[in-house]
Amino acid sequence: MNDKELVAFEAAKLAKNGMLIGLGTGSTANYFIEHLAKRQAEEGLKISTVASSTISAIKAQACGLSLVSINQIKQIDLYVDGADEITPNLSLLKGRGQDLVMEKLLAQAAHQFIVVADKSKIVNFIGEKFIIPIEVIPNAWRIVKHHLEQHGAEGDIRLNANQDNIAVAASGNYVLDMRFPKNVDDQSLNTLLNNTSGVVEHGVFFQLAKKILIADQGIVSSM
Ligand code: A5P
Repeated sequence: MNDKELVAFEAAKLAKNGMLIGLGTGSTANYFIEHLAKRQAEEGLKISTVASSTISAIKAQACGLSLVSINQIKQIDLYVDGADEITPNLSLLKGRGQDLVMEKLLAQAAHQFIVVADKSKIVNFIGEKFIIPIEVIPNAWRIVKHHLEQHGAEGDIRLNANQDNIAVAASGNYVLDMRFPKNVDDQSLNTLLNNTSGVVEHGVFFQLAKKILIADQGIVSSM
């Protein structure tokens, strides 16, 4: 097993009979889905799941997991997802895969939110390696971009894979990909984005993760 699969395998051990489990998005979350399905098939584990993206729902369905829609739930027992960046104080950057509203909703609704990643995701500050995805109301994208530029941000609206049209998130919104000055810490960034009108949600997950499982060369430890 590579490190991503190993950490997902460990997280899948946390699933218990009767649980409603949130499924993340990305390659590490995919391994988690596979190992949950394996436990269901081999041990008769009885669980329901809710997916954070269409792609994860398709994966879960293909693996034989039972899915419920997010509009049917108030809370979930466990949410396991990857991350794009993780800081020593457990702040996360997420949402490269575009459905960050769903990801944050599930993180907020979860009794236990467990992040699974390999060591490459650990950074000193949010934005060290990746741009910050910010989902915005379509009509507001220019105003929001200008407002964030006043705070030193640089970036632009996200385009689709062919680069010939604007990318549209599952909820119908646009995404700004912005880079902020290094001296803007995760808490200030979180506050700024939370307080900007027109922003639906953003990829900074501040004080949401309670436990992070990291795999490094075949060994899993927790942060
Ligand atoms: C998806 O939108 C992100 O929040 C993912 O959790 C992230 O991109 C992790 O992907 P990998 O597990 O493939 O590294």
